Amino acid sequence: MDYHSSGKEILKIQLRIEKCVQGGLGLTHLPDGSVCFVEGVLPGELAEIEIMEKKRDFSKAVAVKILEANKGRRRNPPCKYYGKCGGCNAQYAEFELQIELLKQIVLDLFSRTAKLNLPQDFEIHSGEEWGYRSRAQVFATEKNIPWGFRERATNDVVPIEKCLVLSQNLNEKLKENSNFKKRYLFDNQSEKFLGKHIQADESVFFQSNLELLPKLIDGVKKAASGGELLLDIFCGVGLFSAFLQDMFGQVIAIEQDSRCQKFAEKNLGDNCVFFAMSAEEWCEKNSELLSRACVLIDPPRTGITDKLCNTLCKNKASKLIYVSCNPATLARDTRKLLNSGYELADIQGFAFYPQTFHLEMMGVFKCP
Ligand SMILES: C[S@@+](CC[C@H](N)C(=O)[O-])C[C@H]1O[C@@H](n2cnc3c(N)ncnc32)[C@H](O)[C@@H]1O
Repeated sequence: MDYHSSGKEILKIQLRIEKCVQGGLGLTHLPDGSVCFVEGVLPGELAEIEIMEKKRDFSKAVAVKILEANKGRRRNPPCKYYGKCGGCNAQYAEFELQIELLKQIVLDLFSRTAKLNLPQDFEIHSGEEWGYRSRAQVFATEKNIPWGFRERATNDVVPIEKCLVLSQNLNEKLKENSNFKKRYLFDNQSEKFLGKHIQADESVFFQSNLELLPKLIDGVKKAASGGELLLDIFCGVGLFSAFLQDMFGQVIAIEQDSRCQKFAEKNLGDNCVFFAMSAEEWCEKNSELLSRACVLIDPPRTGITDKLCNTLCKNKASKLIYVSCNPATLARDTRKLLNSGYELADIQGFAFYPQTFHLEMMGVFKCP
């Protein structure tokens, strides 16, 4: 038996990994039948794992040795900060396998949480696996230059000379001097984005994968298809409305971050109005408009609040397009929407964040 320096017994065991779940953790069962989540493994692998934490219902473990590897395992993750930096924790899988794992994770999430079996061939659109990121939060390091990312599992900062997922322009910005403790870097290629002049800066939210964004915008346009009224809820600087405004008689854009307003006013035309207020408050006050509109929501990772969900369930839009950067909260909210009588007409994935287990999704709900 091995012991930690603390004197605690080290629990090591060989187990076969059954599948990957949310966050990319491998799932296996311990000999007593309880579930164990393992970091750094892939489906089908036989691994020697070390139990780090044992709770009543499940344990957490890390892989110590891979005894039989999945053929999609990458022998040498190309980033020199891999394992130290807190980002890009999916680098140990080839990109093709990353996409397959994301698909399996989403199918599993929807079946367990939304009680819905998605088609096995549901589509995940993908683009470049490196150099794709045009927006990132970075932190000051001791020497100030270069900037860094948070270290895995600590609050420290790892100085990064070159990040393989950042665009070339953002890599240049890692070398810029600044007095801030943390900041967003923004590669403003969006100024000439898809033939439009979309305005934004690093102070506000903007999508981070500009290569794949046109696919998502196209998907939203097709799903929306046009009409009398579009409600763009969680609109940011009005990105989606900028591309949808010509298809609708009127657009109402709602966003609680008032810093977005000056950009939205430039990005949106005469048939659009912008409200700097919370989605919950606006929808409650204007609930009669919901049932007349095509409603587009694009909430933060936490998904929609119970309050907004209840308003959307009571006042059903004929079409509700839900753009999400977190499949887990999308699956949770899907369950509530389906229970209230919406039907899921389409669902697609967009691999906006290669080398991580994050995924952008679009669900289209209709009210029969
Ligand atoms: C994922 S971003 C989407 C922005 C925009 N749709 C885009 O693609 O650029 C979510 C946005 O919702 C805003 N937000 C967060 N909570 C909100 C709330 N309760 N009401 C209104 N807006 C909110 C954030 O400020 C952020 O701009």
